[in-house]
Amino acid sequence: MRKSILLGGVLLLFVLGIVLSGCSQSQPPVAQSTPTPSSAAADQEVLKRIEAIEKKVGNVEGTPFNGKDISILGTTPMFALTMREYGDRYSDMFFAAKGGNWALAAYLDHYLRKALTWTKVTKPLAQDSINSFNKTYLDPLLVTVGKKDFKAFEEQYNKTLQGCNACHKAMGYGFVEILPPKEPADKHMDYSKKTEPKDYKDFKLPGS
Ligand code: HEC
Repeated sequence: MRKSILLGGVLLLFVLGIVLSGCSQSQPPVAQSTPTPSSAAADQEVLKRIEAIEKKVGNVEGTPFNGKDISILGTTPMFALTMREYGDRYSDMFFAAKGGNWALAAYLDHYLRKALTWTKVTKPLAQDSINSFNKTYLDPLLVTVGKKDFKAFEEQYNKTLQGCNACHKAMGYGFVEILPPKEPADKHMDYSKKTEPKDYKDFKLPGS
């Protein structure tokens, strides 16, 4: 028993010796930069900071975020922040359609949907409701934009608002009741600039 441990130790030393000598041989003969003590300390400091960040958010190789730190979940918008933008764009959309700035209306539809992208990370379980809301309430509204039909737009706009408030209620926020807008959230856009839906290059009718 003892003999074999001894033998193992000798073998290990032998193998280490080969590996180490191999290493030193494979090093380039010239241009070995020997770091000055101060730059080595700075490197160490940077490495330490990278390690601390990786512990919080995962690393570039894809080690997953451990779910305990607040770095991603605590700093990525959930509903309150995204809904602020969403609601503003939705009210502005009304004035764009009313003023005949159809490209602006199409553009606002696009980015109000996009405003919720963050929730794919922070609210995965709400994605089905969002998708069905888009299909049932936003798509028909966009169709009226495509037709530049303000009467149909206004009718659908109010129906969509009922859908907004139904979701608020279902999620425990019945006190967030959105009414038809009295004025745009962004008062500095030209809502009566006459444009075509297609003037917004990403305009696409739903399902096309
Ligand atoms: C999928 C569900 C859902 C839909 C659909 C939805 N909302 Fe919301 N909304 C929420 C939730 C949840 C909150 C509460 C925010 C929170 O607690 O994080 C909210 C809050 C809001 C707020 C208050 C934001 C703030 O804190 O300042 C506004 C404004 C708003 N929604 C507008 C709208 C409008 C307009 C629509 C329709 C065009 C709409 N929402 C559709 C889920 C939804």
